[in-house]
Amino acid sequence: MEQYIIKGGNPLVGEVEIGGSKNAALPILAASLMTDETVYIDNMPDVFDTNVLLKAMQGIGVMVNRTGRHSVTINAGQLSGQTITDETIRRIRAAYYPVGAMLGKYREAKVPLPGGCEIGCRAIDQHIKGFRALGAEVSIEYGYIVTKAEKLTGAHIYMDCVSVGATINVMMAAALAEGTTIIENAAKEPHVVDLANFLNSMGAKIKGAGTDVVRITGVKKLHGTEYTIIPDQIEAGTFMFAAAVTKGDVTVKNVIPKHLESISAKLTEIGCQISESDGCMRVVATKRLKSTHVKTLPYPGFPTDMQPQIAVALASAQGISIVTESIFENRFKYVDELTRMGANIKVEGNTAIITGVDRYTGADISAPDLRAGAALVTAALAADGFSTVDDIRYIERGYEDFHIKLQNLGALIERVNDDKDIRKFKLRVG
Ligand code: UD1
Repeated sequence: MEQYIIKGGNPLVGEVEIGGSKNAALPILAASLMTDETVYIDNMPDVFDTNVLLKAMQGIGVMVNRTGRHSVTINAGQLSGQTITDETIRRIRAAYYPVGAMLGKYREAKVPLPGGCEIGCRAIDQHIKGFRALGAEVSIEYGYIVTKAEKLTGAHIYMDCVSVGATINVMMAAALAEGTTIIENAAKEPHVVDLANFLNSMGAKIKGAGTDVVRITGVKKLHGTEYTIIPDQIEAGTFMFAAAVTKGDVTVKNVIPKHLESISAKLTEIGCQISESDGCMRVVATKRLKSTHVKTLPYPGFPTDMQPQIAVALASAQGISIVTESIFENRFKYVDELTRMGANIKVEGNTAIITGVDRYTGADISAPDLRAGAALVTAALAADGFSTVDDIRYIERGYEDFHIKLQNLGALIERVNDDKDIRKFKLRVG
């Protein structure tokens, strides 16, 4: 089984190029289903989730041409149907995006419901409520979400909770509905804005994305486009916190600093120096980190997808910190693993009370989910001695070449297949 073997203790130093946003790429790829014309997409991350979605789209007759590792042309002019049967798609959360896209374009869709419960129960009631408000019938049958509409009519929809997925899905369906849709209490994440910009570049009329009221005036059809996906805010944040945890000096390149404000504010609070220049952010950590409190919130609040990374930093900081998770109920699964590396963390409900320890020590640990997996790797990079990280398939769902990018920053990390590889690594690095 593939694992990372890591020898900790080296500060990360250097520059790292940040890829395209996974969470923007997924709805943008799905939205490419909404035109018969060819769409060209650039800065697409080459990760498990995007590849699974593209494969599922090919399964219903979408022409996908990888023109480069990060670029793709998509033509959905000759679909064989609106039912996705590719079961692998169930493994990714974004499985539901083709629903909004195909409902908008074809007035019907049948897609396997996303499974997995790594970080919480992840209801889809707001997606369903939105589709129904537009006039669609929606049911869950035999593990599929099935939806059909005679016609889609714009509606005024108030989201009961701030949901990235529901905002995006309803936006897609409404883009080709008749009349105007208003989504209130919409999610404001950068990837919601990126999808709106993408759809607008195809001829949609969406205003207000990035605020909590999005106004969509339906159009009859969408056309082809060329589009570059925004940089991945969470990948950037992960490397920034990796710099902090390892007392390093890392510059993340190709980022949008505005998207990283909540992350850089916390890094400054815990004692790092942050500087910004032209699409780059530099994080320098020279002293022991300081404690702080943090609560995850929808954008522009501190992202839930950065919660494990900041907790890893705080668990080695001076003093007591409190981390409150307000989005997903099951996002502290990494705490047991981190405890095995020496952390002192007590979880009560959605709160972790963290007493910083002087140092981590290496251990054999497993990635419980995507972001927690990446965070545990950063702990292992800071730890004394060797660690192995198992279940790295989770990490590879959302981080492209994670270990290679870390190696380029001076980390002693390798992706290995068996004990022989581990022994070789240990002999080599001593
Ligand atoms: C997306 C991101 C994920 C990120 C999350 C929050 C993708 C593929 N994933 O997930 O990385 O952690 O946003 O920023 O982009 N909820 C409901 N009913 C619904 C929908 C959501 O109750 O119909 C709840 C969820 O259980 C959760 C909260 O709303 O508690 C936020 O979920 P949501 O924003 O929808 O997350 P995702 O879109 O699944």
